[in-house]
Amino acid sequence: MGITLQGLGYYVPQDVLSNFDLEKIVDTSDEWITTRTGIKERRIAKNETLIDMAEKASKMALEDAKVDPKDVDAIVFATITPHFSFPASACLLQDRLGCKNGFAFDISAACSGFLYGLEVAKGLIVGGSAKKVLLVGAEKLSEIVNWQDRSTCVLFGDGAGAVLVSSEGEGEILASVMRSDGEAWNILYAEKCGYINMRGRELFKLAVRSMEEVCQQVISTVGLKVEDIDLVIPHQANIRIMEALAEKLGIPMQKVYSNIHKYGNTSAASIPIAMAEAYREGRLKRGYTVLMTAMGAGLTWGATLIRF
Ligand code: ACO
Repeated sequence: MGITLQGLGYYVPQDVLSNFDLEKIVDTSDEWITTRTGIKERRIAKNETLIDMAEKASKMALEDAKVDPKDVDAIVFATITPHFSFPASACLLQDRLGCKNGFAFDISAACSGFLYGLEVAKGLIVGGSAKKVLLVGAEKLSEIVNWQDRSTCVLFGDGAGAVLVSSEGEGEILASVMRSDGEAWNILYAEKCGYINMRGRELFKLAVRSMEEVCQQVISTVGLKVEDIDLVIPHQANIRIMEALAEKLGIPMQKVYSNIHKYGNTSAASIPIAMAEAYREGRLKRGYTVLMTAMGAGLTWGATLIRF
């Protein structure tokens, strides 16, 4: 059965926090942040809630797909910064959008949230529970960043991305592999109402190794050659992670989409924001074979290969 990413949308807050701004807050430098991560600036939601951002991204995706909110069968909302403990952010978004006829729930898989969500959307469609799923990845990470901790506060940003996943259209999910390892939970975590804790150096190596493994798996499942991949949209955590991964896979960086310099790491929002931007810039075109991969807290990781 075909599964098409029929409409794409994104929203990032207007307020920009540059590396130079961060130099005034913690003992860091633009040079350190740029060379270690590729990040130059990130967006901070000062006046917007998580739901405000998700609403704007979702409306863009629905408009792009030419789908009426009332025709959405399910909303899957990937986030680690939910608006309330309960109800789900997906239900708050459902109310804003007027998606009266569906059901809505959240999933928590950190930076892998969008790919896990796509797996859930596929399951709902293939299982016959839905024909149109609005998949949202949105984060307000600025709320859980310790602005005194230079080892983490320079990395993260806020934003939202949304995709209308449909049973109609020419697209396909060619292969996907999702993984997690709960034993490694304490490499990256935030306690309830607490800040992000991270062992960055360990995570860096694990990220490259784990994403390479699942990428190789999806590529070989489909029997493709790496040359057949038109575009790679990796989770935007660190440009050096993306470069190391591309090198291991034998894919030139020209085929790897990155906007990390503008937005930093937006966790579950990073892939759908990148995808929507790439589409609007003409870097992502219908018919393209696209490889997406992510790794994050859990630990969770995965790779999904699609025909867009
Ligand atoms: N500015 C200046 N110096 C800093 C800063 C900063 N913002 N942060 C750390 N340092 C210092 C450290 O204190 C350390 O100093 P020391 O040598 O005197 O002890 C030195 O810089 C090197 O620190 P490392 O942590 O070893 O630096 P590294 O090269 O590993 O880069 C980084 C750190 C950018 C966090 C990297 O490890 C990384 O990106 N890891 C992946 C983390 C990640 O992306 N997490 C997000 C979720 S998971 C995911 O998405 C994959």
